[in-house]
Amino acid sequence: MTLLDVLDLIKDRVDGTLSYRKSCRMMICGSCGMRMDGAAVLACKTRMQPIVSAGHVPTISAMGNLPILKDLVVDMAPFWGKIRAMKPWLQPGYDELREKERIVSQQQMNVINKEALCIMCGCCVSECNSMEADPEFLGPAALAKGFRFVGDARDAAAVERLEDYNSEHGIWDCTRCYFCNERCPKGVDPRDAIAKLGAESIKEGIDHDMGAKHANWFVTSAKTTGWLRETELVPKTQGIIAAIQQTGFALALAKHGKVPPPVPPHVAKDVTQARALYDLVKAQGVDGALGIVQGEHALSRIEFEQESKERERELELEQVVE
Ligand code: SF4
Ligand code: SF4
Ligand code: FES
Repeated sequence: MTLLDVLDLIKDRVDGTLSYRKSCRMMICGSCGMRMDGAAVLACKTRMQPIVSAGHVPTISAMGNLPILKDLVVDMAPFWGKIRAMKPWLQPGYDELREKERIVSQQQMNVINKEALCIMCGCCVSECNSMEADPEFLGPAALAKGFRFVGDARDAAAVERLEDYNSEHGIWDCTRCYFCNERCPKGVDPRDAIAKLGAESIKEGIDHDMGAKHANWFVTSAKTTGWLRETELVPKTQGIIAAIQQTGFALALAKHGKVPPPVPPHVAKDVTQARALYDLVKAQGVDGALGIVQGEHALSRIEFEQESKERERELELEQVVE
């Protein structure tokens, strides 16, 4: 039995007034998003057997960051409004019809493979820290939808879209908490999609947002001295006047021991490694979205590959010794 089956049972036998949404019962329609013990889940994907076996009685509640209408039903209007703001339709830049279809290669479609899996359930939005602080933030689902079109080889409006997504409440307001990746039931990894949008923006020279300027400054500071020189962040990205205006804030941070030393003690001993890394990334020529390393699954693959390589080296050594 899934959580959805249990809710059906409760509605049927215990309380007919219990309200929740459902449709497909097979993780496709995205209707049954809700929270179990404070974390967003799809009710039709959540199996109850292990929970019951553990003797645990879970708390079921409505999704977060959206107004509750009744019981487990939330008002999805703000969610759909943000999806609509992304212009979620192809803008191919041509009108004429052809006799035959336009072929898109599998390789080109692979770029947006993950983002196209979104079923718009809202589980990521429910857990978004940034949206909790700023309800106007476009949020993980809408931004993942945005990359689904920015990365589409058939779309001719990518730059225009990136300009839109770089405005206030846009991509740079994400706090990178990764809860959206953690809770998405379909493996869309919306935080990765946001990182790809950021990388595409920088590639297209759309770096007027403070977040983009910060990212650029961190690259420069890591490359030149090997340090992330946060103290210089404000004067370098916002200018001297803004830096002076923020003196009071800086002093308050200093009082709580949250300001790094004003000048890094020296150029980092292994700065050549940071520079070599920078050169390596440049030489690979995978700028923009293609240069984004994807979430934990990708990292675990890298770890696995490293382990395999180390094991290969050990075997080679053993053979040499023999
Ligand atoms: S990104 Fe994942 S969690 Fe968010 S709406 Fe799409 S499927 Fe649901
Ligand atoms: S990583 Fe960004 S978009 Fe995802 S939940 Fe955290 S703040 Fe929201
Ligand atoms: S009922 Fe459709 S996703 Fe759960």
